[in-house]
Amino acid sequence: MDPNTSGLSQKLAEAGQSHLLQFWNELSPEEQADLTREMQGMNFQEINGFFKSAMETSSSKQEKMDTRMEPVPREVLGSVTRDRENLKDWELAGLHCISQSKVAVLLLAGGQGTRLGVSYPKGMYDVGLPSHKTLFQIQAERILKLQQLAEQKHKIKCCIPWYIMTSGRTMGPTKDYFLKHNYFGLDKDSIVFFTQGMLPAMDYNGKIILENKGKLSMAPDGNGGLYRALGNQGITDDMERRGVEFIHVYCVDNVLVKVADPAFVGFCVQKGADCGAKVVEKTNPTEAVGVVCKVDGRYQVVEYSEITLATAEKRSADGRLMFNAGNVANHFFSFSFLKDIVKKYEPQLQHHVAQKKIPHVDAQGQLIKPEKPNGIKMEKFVFDIFQFAKTFVVFEVLREDEFSPLKNADSQDGKDTPTTARHTLMSLHHRWVLNAGGHFIDENGRRVPAIPRDGAAGSVTDAGNRNLKDGTDLPIKCEISPLVSYGGEGLEDLVKGREFQATLMIDEKGVHELVKNGV
Ligand code: UTP
Repeated sequence: MDPNTSGLSQKLAEAGQSHLLQFWNELSPEEQADLTREMQGMNFQEINGFFKSAMETSSSKQEKMDTRMEPVPREVLGSVTRDRENLKDWELAGLHCISQSKVAVLLLAGGQGTRLGVSYPKGMYDVGLPSHKTLFQIQAERILKLQQLAEQKHKIKCCIPWYIMTSGRTMGPTKDYFLKHNYFGLDKDSIVFFTQGMLPAMDYNGKIILENKGKLSMAPDGNGGLYRALGNQGITDDMERRGVEFIHVYCVDNVLVKVADPAFVGFCVQKGADCGAKVVEKTNPTEAVGVVCKVDGRYQVVEYSEITLATAEKRSADGRLMFNAGNVANHFFSFSFLKDIVKKYEPQLQHHVAQKKIPHVDAQGQLIKPEKPNGIKMEKFVFDIFQFAKTFVVFEVLREDEFSPLKNADSQDGKDTPTTARHTLMSLHHRWVLNAGGHFIDENGRRVPAIPRDGAAGSVTDAGNRNLKDGTDLPIKCEISPLVSYGGEGLEDLVKGREFQATLMIDEKGVHELVKNGV
């Protein structure tokens, strides 16, 4: 339809975005229809408002935070290494909540995965484990196992609803993938897919960027787009109907993620927290990770770029970095807190500005791939809501046991790649076998020197040991299906006193040594 008669031209003129129609006459009728459809659903005045406040906030953020920051006080901190005596209690409390079907998990899977560079959703990625399970399958099986553990312990059937946030682009392939794999054994009705919003990329003058003559450059509105999506797609209502009281939120790309971690949930519930953040210790002052801390008395995540090196290097009396609570985007929310966020606080959240190189068409209709940033994307972050928490807690876990994100392709710099993800998972499972009393032998039948034990086997929260930092040099290939063990528990009957030659795989069908069997 003609943009003048449909009112689109006027809407764009009022918002100062008329340039979006500059190639209108060159478009085919189908392209015109697509462009009209895309723009009709957009609120340009609101987008202009987002741009204005995001730019204002970003320029006022230039000053460093150092003088306003305080570390997380010990009384709100739980630690798997420093509070070992409480771990079992927390785990039992969490498992009890799970058995009551009060715990849901919420997966943030709306990202574009640009650095990894695959055309399909990141959750469908196979990091090359012996089983070739994808991230989605690993997570699904952990949920299944946890339901079983809770059911066995409490003799009651339970369900952990799984809310999966996708973007408009990843929704179709994600849903198809789950359907094709029969939801990995989970009840189809316990999985709820929903989509987050998208926002256009803007140039520095607030003009929306055209990706080509008939298409706006659009990107998801950040993982903090969660809160708006939860409201406008009726997800909080769904949670209420199901009686969900606690929600564990996590990212799709962490191969080690303990989905619905009972210890974390139990700790947060026992502390009466409305909001909790799982963290890993930051040990290197210059590591570019955000830290959870208090700023002007309120909790938030402060990025490495927002503090001076002197502050990043400060140490406490125990020798650890003072600001060491490394944020891993892994959170606990009480349902009532989440509902308040969605209903009351979401509009107060500001978009952050990310300067990007955004491919676009110039005024002559030429496609340009810029070499330096030419505009911004606007994103909200999932942790932007810490400031609204009344009782905020922090749970520190071991990086080598729980955090290994997949960000980059193997061709890149070696950090957070499929190889590191695969190695950290196999290293963890290797330690589980050793902790449960199993041994590994090499091809000559000689025992591979055991790495020191740390923590008793059989506990869901068995911390493993700390000597292997990332497992990248670990030759032992070992994979344990989440259907057999969620966190290292239940392995003694299978491995105690036995010797294995890698590759070792333990799954619901039994214990397999792939090399010995000629696989
Ligand atoms: P990242 O910020 O690492 O982004 O997301 P990404 O999309 O995975 O990768 P790049 O930056 O494009 O290379 C951290 C987590 O937040 C989710 C991602 O899916 C991932 O689980 N996320 C990110 C969203 O759900 N929505 C977004 O808009 C952005």
